[in-house]
Amino acid sequence: MPAWLNDAVFYEIYPQSFYDSNGDGIGDINGIREKLDYILSLGCNALWINPCYDSPFRDGGYDVRDYYKVAPRYGTNEDLYGLFEDAHRKGMHILLDLVPGHTSEEHPWFAESSKAEPNAYSGRYIWTDFWIKSIPGHPYIGGETPRNGTYMLNFFKCQPALNYGWRSPSESWQCGTDHPDALATREALKDIICFWLDRGADGFRVDMADSLVKGDDEDKSSTCEIWRDIRAMLDRDYPGAALVSEWSNPRLALNNAGFHMDFYLDHWYNGYHSLLRRVEDGIDRSYFRKDADSDIQLFLQDYLPKYRETREHGYISFITCNHDTPRLAPRLSDRELQLAYATLFTLPGIPFLYYGDEIAMRYQEKLPTKEGGYTRTGSRTPMQWDEGPNLGFSTAPADRLYLPVDASPDAPTAASATGRDSLLELIRSVLTLRHHEPDLQADGDFSILHAASGDPLFVYSRGRRILAVNPSGKVRTAAIPGLKAGAVPALLIGSADVSDSQLTLGPQSFIVT
Ligand code: NOJ
Repeated sequence: MPAWLNDAVFYEIYPQSFYDSNGDGIGDINGIREKLDYILSLGCNALWINPCYDSPFRDGGYDVRDYYKVAPRYGTNEDLYGLFEDAHRKGMHILLDLVPGHTSEEHPWFAESSKAEPNAYSGRYIWTDFWIKSIPGHPYIGGETPRNGTYMLNFFKCQPALNYGWRSPSESWQCGTDHPDALATREALKDIICFWLDRGADGFRVDMADSLVKGDDEDKSSTCEIWRDIRAMLDRDYPGAALVSEWSNPRLALNNAGFHMDFYLDHWYNGYHSLLRRVEDGIDRSYFRKDADSDIQLFLQDYLPKYRETREHGYISFITCNHDTPRLAPRLSDRELQLAYATLFTLPGIPFLYYGDEIAMRYQEKLPTKEGGYTRTGSRTPMQWDEGPNLGFSTAPADRLYLPVDASPDAPTAASATGRDSLLELIRSVLTLRHHEPDLQADGDFSILHAASGDPLFVYSRGRRILAVNPSGKVRTAAIPGLKAGAVPALLIGSADVSDSQLTLGPQSFIVT
């Protein structure tokens, strides 16, 4: 396990929307370089950058045309190498986005694979052997290429599935995971990984990590085998490199596949969903919603077994949001967000803060889709830096921006969000404390001290620290054996009374004692 992970806190950057350094209306690598000190000042010492490779951008860059080249709209490979250097000089680490399961249909591998004549790339993607043959259970395309076959898709129409083999091939056009074509794809993936690690990347966020092997790989054991092979390569050749999976199944991703971290994503009815996005029939029952009066049970029932079974193997990563998920503001208030982030950032594992969430950037309703974003587009608008033109994102004319900035007169900005009680300052305080106290970092011990059915008060310990959150609008009290009166809280939102063996938390309050 790379030692730097224990104290890592990540900041996710959607590069086209972060900071435009050259005035062309779109964010770029040099823009990220200019803002590293800002990111560091939040307490985030690591980055995940969404795909920044050459692409026709029909899925925001998750349709890669050249894995080895930075998209010209973001700059050059040299700019990215410079970013790695700048970040390392500041003690920061950078994860790129790895898209292993599909390429763009414009990738040269696919152009070769589409040809009627067999060639070195014929087996790089998943093709049937007849122009009208269906691929049951999978999306596929026919009629587009000279090759006499149909090909499988991994996501959108523009994203043909790469061939890592089938678990139990049952048709002559399907190959096993040890077939030379499947192994060649795996080697090509390793080459991409090594290329960027050799040039200074510190690892990858792995897109759709569970989707490599096709066929009856429901238990994912064949997909896990491929990732274990890649992890073995990292352990041997790049022991400081880290992988975080887009999987949201830590038992498989951490214990079986060997990822260092696995995202806890917003999936319907999982524990994370119950904390922040549990809206049912128009009623918001999310745990952190003040008027929901929900308890923490739904979260713990899902999270605790996963945490206990995986903690020896890797980390569960809480996110504030991501580029696929609706932002929490304006549905949750600043105070609700403070309580949520203070909790997420002090649970075990490694947190990820999505750009702009530190200033409660708002989900933008009703934007037309951009680059395959659809409802995700509203979470991908430009970062709001200050009161200047385009809220400081770009000097380009407003109609040339990648996406419009929040047009509301009270749009929050990084410059204006720094008051003493602001969300941004709270994040700084929590993360400063986390960096100072190993007990609060990824590996620190965790136990539940109070979580009762029907009671929103949640009390937990991290090492020697006792933490509590009360998202509700009412005062809540719990008996906490061993609690000592008098200690000055290390962090307090709202109000609290700490007496011997009893903790009382005011409405919408959080404490680290
Ligand atoms: C998950 C990514 O997060 C999403 O943005 C993308 O559209 C799909 N995978 C396909 O790569």
